[in-house]
Amino acid sequence: MGRKSLYFLVLGVLVACYIYTSPPDIFEEPWKLMLINVQLKTFVHLRKLDAHRRAVFFVHGGGWCSGSPALRNYDLLSRWTAERLNAVVISIDYRLAPKYHFPIQFEDVYNALRWFLRRNILENYGINPERICVSGDSAGGNLAAAVTQKLFSDSDANIKPKIQALIYPALQPLDLDSPSYQENSDMPILPKSLMVRFWSEYFTRDRSLEKAMLSNEHVSAESSHLFQFVNWSSFLPERFRKGHVYNNPTYGSSELTQKYPGILDVRAAPLLADDSKLRGLPQTFVLTCQYDVLRDDGLMYVTRLRNAGVQVAHYHVEDGFHGAISFPQLKISHRVINQYISWLKENL
Ligand SMILES: *[C@@H]1O[C@H](CO)[C@@H](O)[C@H](O)[C@H]1NC(C)=O
Repeated sequence: MGRKSLYFLVLGVLVACYIYTSPPDIFEEPWKLMLINVQLKTFVHLRKLDAHRRAVFFVHGGGWCSGSPALRNYDLLSRWTAERLNAVVISIDYRLAPKYHFPIQFEDVYNALRWFLRRNILENYGINPERICVSGDSAGGNLAAAVTQKLFSDSDANIKPKIQALIYPALQPLDLDSPSYQENSDMPILPKSLMVRFWSEYFTRDRSLEKAMLSNEHVSAESSHLFQFVNWSSFLPERFRKGHVYNNPTYGSSELTQKYPGILDVRAAPLLADDSKLRGLPQTFVLTCQYDVLRDDGLMYVTRLRNAGVQVAHYHVEDGFHGAISFPQLKISHRVINQYISWLKENL
């Protein structure tokens, strides 16, 4: 007997063993029943294999006032992530400004995350509860960082993400004049004026907040203690501080922060969390771009997380600008997305 026929014989016996059951003689159509049984058995086996799938809970950007998982760039990103990681990607919608203001966006995302992180939901999707990432870009990075902080301080959240990934996140509206705001105030895609507009509209339609933010005088002296958490003079690496002089904040009247306390709320400004809160956070990926007003927010979070003992992977894109992942027609988009997905592949 040739080697090939031997293989076929062995294979045949194995298949027969997998299929064959011995139903009582009284059953009619025993072979059909056996085939149905095999289908069910196979389904259960495949489900078990799938139960080790990873998941990415993704929050899209767009200044809290635009964007959707259905936009072509986000849809492509979700598909690529799902394919390359064999992961389940949950890309969520949330209510947007100017119709809805903080904390609606935060709450929508947090509620969706809590809904998702339930054992029966994860089982339905075949997800391994120990391999979940919370991720987002820009305003979505802000929301991803904020809900992750909240989740890790929530004592009745049993299932927690393994890692978080923040792509050029916005992390604080207190100091809107850091070196990256100064250097990139006229950059394409996200000039300073637009970012200030996004921040102020996250809280209100009242244009007087935007005006005060533009002159960086929207926080009053009563909140001066919060500036220690966003002090670029102590948290930026030397090369990013170079050529800039740190001035202590200029304080405004307390009227605006009283009317819009969200400005000082850690759910809107994850950099305002104190070290004890940062200490419990999971391993973190932060991507920053050199030519981006939000660069220093990301850089400061990297320093603060590392100071608190959190493991951080920081990728700085030297020729990057805000929104770089969102333009599949540009080469840089693929380069940055590859870095992000490769990191997830290794760490999730
Ligand atoms: C910021 O840090 C610098 C030195 O690192 C310090 O001199 C300054 O007082 C700090 N300012 C605030 C508001 O924390």
